[in-house]
Amino acid sequence: MIGVFDSGAGGLTVLKAMRDVYPSIDVVYFGDTKNAPYGMRSREELSHLTVEGIRFLLEHGATAIVSACNSVSASLVLSLYEVLPLGNVPLIEMVGPCVSAFKGSRERIALCATVATVESGMYRDAFRMIGKDVTAFAIPELAGAIEKGEGEEAYERYIRTALAQVPPDLCDVLVLGCTHYPLVLDVFRRCAPGKRIFDPAEAVAERVLNDLWPREMGYGKTDFYISSESAQFREFAARLFPDAAYTVTVLS
Ligand code: DGL
Repeated sequence: MIGVFDSGAGGLTVLKAMRDVYPSIDVVYFGDTKNAPYGMRSREELSHLTVEGIRFLLEHGATAIVSACNSVSASLVLSLYEVLPLGNVPLIEMVGPCVSAFKGSRERIALCATVATVESGMYRDAFRMIGKDVTAFAIPELAGAIEKGEGEEAYERYIRTALAQVPPDLCDVLVLGCTHYPLVLDVFRRCAPGKRIFDPAEAVAERVLNDLWPREMGYGKTDFYISSESAQFREFAARLFPDAAYTVTVLS
């Protein structure tokens, strides 16, 4: 069973891409809606929440982990294997598969993400390893606004304000470095006309298939756990998985 972890609804976009290429997996998903958004939290807080999230997934039967949260990527370089009974449980995160997808590309890349992700420098460093410089900028309010369902007008304002810092001729492709952002893909398209918009979810899903097939074989079932009630989470899950049977358990 694959354990998927995010601060809330963002990981649903990654799960959707995983299901598209690898339908037979069983998934236990933990969305930490009580502590979302993560992107404004300190490195210490994120490390603690990451350990607790992954511990929860292991206790609920996960035999592989997908961290569908960019904001905690820096915490994953911690010695998680020292702190948690991970054994031989593989851990797949967002940054590596995303950056690998640009090997050999000549496109100029801008990356938008949460404050935590941008400040961690994880993407910048990983892109440098393949010889690419990226312009990274934060959209501080956006993930939280999506969790709360503030609406398209607010999303557009946040995106336009952040994009104004990036000269339009500086990039060919805009990478969505936060898994919440594809939930408002249409708004990004409106705000960045003429740019290719890249959602890393597909690259992560390919990595999952490549690394975990055929070891992870199940019946296609999904159990969602959220740490506090969230109408938004339920709405996004219904939108992305209209035909799927799944359970949602609220933990508090
Ligand atoms: N969706 C997560 C990410 O990719 C977390 C966003 C947040 O909670 O601020 O970074």
